[in-house]
Amino acid sequence: MNDWRPSYQSRCMSAQQAVQHVKSGDRVVIGHACGEPPTLVEALVERAPELENVEIVHMVAMGSAKYAQPGMEKSFRHNALFVGATTRKAVAEKRGDFTPCFFSEVPRLFRNGLLSVDVVLMQVTPPDEHGFCSFGVSDDYTKAAAESAKLVIAQVNRFLPWTGGDRIHVSEIDCFVEKDEAIVELQPPPIHDVEKAIGKNVASLVENGATLQLGIGAIPDAVLLFLKDKEDLGLHSEMFSDGVVELAEAGVMTNRKKTLHPGKFVATFLMGTRKLYDFVDNNPDVEMYGVDYVNDPYIIGQIDNMVSINSALQVDLMGQVNAEMIGTKQFSGVGGQVDFTRGASRSRNGKAIIAMPSTASHGKISRIVCQLDTGAAVTTSRNDVQYIVTEYGIADLRGKCLRERAKALIAVSHPDFRSTLLAQATEQGLI
Ligand code: COA
Repeated sequence: MNDWRPSYQSRCMSAQQAVQHVKSGDRVVIGHACGEPPTLVEALVERAPELENVEIVHMVAMGSAKYAQPGMEKSFRHNALFVGATTRKAVAEKRGDFTPCFFSEVPRLFRNGLLSVDVVLMQVTPPDEHGFCSFGVSDDYTKAAAESAKLVIAQVNRFLPWTGGDRIHVSEIDCFVEKDEAIVELQPPPIHDVEKAIGKNVASLVENGATLQLGIGAIPDAVLLFLKDKEDLGLHSEMFSDGVVELAEAGVMTNRKKTLHPGKFVATFLMGTRKLYDFVDNNPDVEMYGVDYVNDPYIIGQIDNMVSINSALQVDLMGQVNAEMIGTKQFSGVGGQVDFTRGASRSRNGKAIIAMPSTASHGKISRIVCQLDTGAAVTTSRNDVQYIVTEYGIADLRGKCLRERAKALIAVSHPDFRSTLLAQATEQGLI
C-alpha cells in the first residue's frame, strides 16, 4: 500500500488556513451533535466580517452555534435539519431556516444535490497505520457529506474514540487540522417519579431477546432502569448514551439474539459522557454506520423483536403524534422517530412505542389533546402509530377504530383532563 503519510503531512494546516477556503455563498455542512469540530467552527465564525450568505447546514448543534446569533445574519444563515437549544431562537426569529426531513434521508439530500455540499467541517480520529480515520461519535450524515462535498476539512482529534464500522481514508480529505479537544459531553438527565412510572410501563412491553432503539433524554434513561432483570437485549439505535453502558456491563445487553448484526451494538451517533466514549473506543462489539443505513425502515424491519422508544409533545385522540412543534414554533424535528416507528412496525413481533408524560408545564397542560395545536405538524401519522405510553398506562392503538383509540388515549391521560377530553371527543363525534 502507498505510504499515505507525506501527502497527509502536506495537507496539515491551522484552522484559520483551512477555513480560508470557505467562500461567500457556500453551503457548509457541520458534523452532527458531539461530532461537531469546535476549533473549525470557531475559526469559521471568526471570518464573519469578510463572509456573506454562507449557509450553515446542521442537525443538532451542541456547541454555542455563534453563527446563529443576532448580528451574524449577513455572514451566515443557519439551515437546521433539527432544532436544538442553541438554534431554536434563531429559527423562531426567522434568522435561520428549518428544513423538514427524515434523518435517514439527509445523506440522500447531499448525494443527489438537492442540498449540494460545498464544504464539510468534521471531526475524525488520527489515521491508523493504513491511513483510515474513524468518525468517532458521529457517522450519521458526515460520511455522505464528505463524499459529496467539494472540500472536506477535518479536525483530527486524539480524544475521539475509535469506533468500528464506517471509516474514511485520508485521501478523501482535503485539509487536516490537528487539534486535540475534549469531546462535548452530555450528562444524564435527572429522572423523576413520572419518568420512572413511564419507564416501568415501557419496560413491561420489552421481552427478553428484544432489540432496542432509544431516543435521547429522561424517558429512555428511565426505561433502561427497569430493564435490569431482562435477558439478551440488543441495540440497533440511531444513538445511544451512558445508560446502555450500564446494561452492557451488567450482562443484560448482549446483542446475542439480534437477527441482524448479532453480537454488535449498532448506532449512527453517540451522545454521553467520557464513560460512554471509553466504552466504545476500540470496542469490537460497537459498529457505527451512516444514518441512511441505521435508520432505514427496511433495514430496521429485518430485525425481529425490534422495539422503538421515542417521545412526543402532544398526541391527539386519533393517535396523531406531534413530537416537534409547540404551537407554530419549531421545537425540534422528526429526527429518527418515523424511521424507527416504521421499522419496528415492519419487524416480526416488533413494537413501536411513543412514551411521554401525560402533562406539560407543571401539570397545567394535557399532552393528550382532542386536536393538535393550530399550526403544529404531525410527526408520526395516525396510520404509523402503535403504542402510546404515559405514567398512567399503555394505549395500544394498532388495529383500533377511532372511537376505540379516543377511549384508550383518554384512559392514559391525566385524570384532571379526562372529563374535558371525553366531552370534546363526544362533541367532535369521535365517541
Ligand atoms: N405544550 C406546551 N409545552 C410543552 C408541551 C405541550 N404540549 N409539551 C412539552 N412542552 C414543554 C415542556 O413543558 C418543556 O418545557 P420546560 O423545559 O420549560 O419544562 C419543553 O416543552 C420540553 O418538553 P419535554 O417533554 O421535556 O422535552 P424532551 O426534552 O423530553 O423532548 C421531544 C421531547 C418530543 C421534543 C423529543 O423527544 C424530540 O425532539 N423528539 C423528536 C425526534 C425523535 O423522536 N428522535 C428520536 C430518535 S433520537
